[in-house]
Amino acid sequence: MINVGVIGTGYIGGVHIDALKRIGGVNVSAVNDANPDFAAETAARFNVPVVAKEYRDILNDPSIDVIHNCTPNKVHCSITKEALEKGKQVMSEKPLAMTLAEAE
Ligand SMILES: NC(=O)c1ccc[n+]([C@@H]2O[C@H](COP(=O)([O-])OP(=O)(O)OC[C@H]3O[C@@H](n4cnc5c(N)ncnc54)[C@H](O)[C@@H]3O)[C@@H](O)[C@H]2O)c1
Repeated sequence: MINVGVIGTGYIGGVHIDALKRIGGVNVSAVNDANPDFAAETAARFNVPVVAKEYRDILNDPSIDVIHNCTPNKVHCSITKEALEKGKQVMSEKPLAMTLAEAE
């Protein structure tokens, strides 16, 4: 089973979770959002067991293999970089970063 944490539960975060729930062998095990109400509401809608207080709680959870970065563009690079440094696989929403330098 591949365990996924979704960071950012606005419009597209819900779309990702809905798609992930249709794939065998994938478990959406935690969500986080800067707005805890959004995260709790999304977790309840899709039966996700954990609402992480901080996105770093997801990055520091060894049981989570992959993160989906569904945050706004301006924080894609920092969260994705931190996740990669923690050894997570990352599915980043587009754009990967705000500038070529950030992406590199
Ligand atoms: N691939 C596509 O077809 C598609 C479509 C729409 C949006 N997007 C991309 O998805 C991303 C999100 O777009 P959206 O429409 O879902 O926006 P949104 O504003 O609906 O959702 C973004 C969420 O991220 C949360 N957030 C902000 N900063 C955060 C942080 N530091 N940590 C955790 N959560 C944080 C916000 O509270 C919000 O709930 C954008 O990068 C956008 O370009 C892609």
